[in-house]
Amino acid sequence: MPRQKPQTPRHVAIIMDGNGRWAKQRGLPRREGHRAGAESVREAIEACTELGVEFLTLYAFSSENWKRPKNEVRALMVLLERFLKEKSGELQEKNVRLQAIGRLHDLPEGPLGQLHETIEATSQNTGLTLVLALSYGGREEIIDGVKSILRHVGEGHLDPAMIDTEMFGKHLYTRYYPDPDLLIRTSGEMRVSNFLLWQISYAEMYITHKLWPDFRKEDFREAVADFGGRSRRFGAL
Ligand code: FPP
Repeated sequence: MPRQKPQTPRHVAIIMDGNGRWAKQRGLPRREGHRAGAESVREAIEACTELGVEFLTLYAFSSENWKRPKNEVRALMVLLERFLKEKSGELQEKNVRLQAIGRLHDLPEGPLGQLHETIEATSQNTGLTLVLALSYGGREEIIDGVKSILRHVGEGHLDPAMIDTEMFGKHLYTRYYPDPDLLIRTSGEMRVSNFLLWQISYAEMYITHKLWPDFRKEDFREAVADFGGRSRRFGAL
């Protein structure tokens, strides 16, 4: 593959970390950190629209997040439902198409219903595709992909000899999207945390010490500018 000098990433994925620490620093309950984080989500969407990023995937709730205290899980679910309800008009206005990945059937009825409603309402939009990763785990996604392949083999629709990386990708939740070009993680943690394990193979990583509620439009622009200066070789010279 030829050496590329990319300008704007087509697909940005974000591990939005640090909401709890942001709240703690201010002596506030953790849910206030998540609330402030929702404002950063709004700004990231705006920045993508302005910069011409085509896909934005946000790690909004991981499979492991179910293990948090019940009241925090509840607060996050309420926030998600409210965000979808309140921002639906804004998504329409900005021509944003909403999508979601993960074991969505695990979500409570309220946020799940609202999610389906907003996905349906925005399905014809042609601008940014916003993908929310909800009850999402990269290992779980790979397991679900393997099960899907086995089903196709069992039904006689797929010859195991035909399985390669391209075909495997078609059995993942993300089959409709290109792989992320840029992975952003806030709060300075140097971990991937079970996010898009298969898809980030060649993503450029950008790690900032800013906590997610402090990561605003200008910070997003800075991450994209940093990406623009990188040289991607995809394993070649
Ligand atoms: C990580 O911070 C963040 C989350 C587990 C949830 C992310 C959710 C939001 C930004 C809320 C709004 C999102 C949408 C799509 C409406 P943390 O709680 O792990 O922070 P900590 O590591 O400082 O404790």
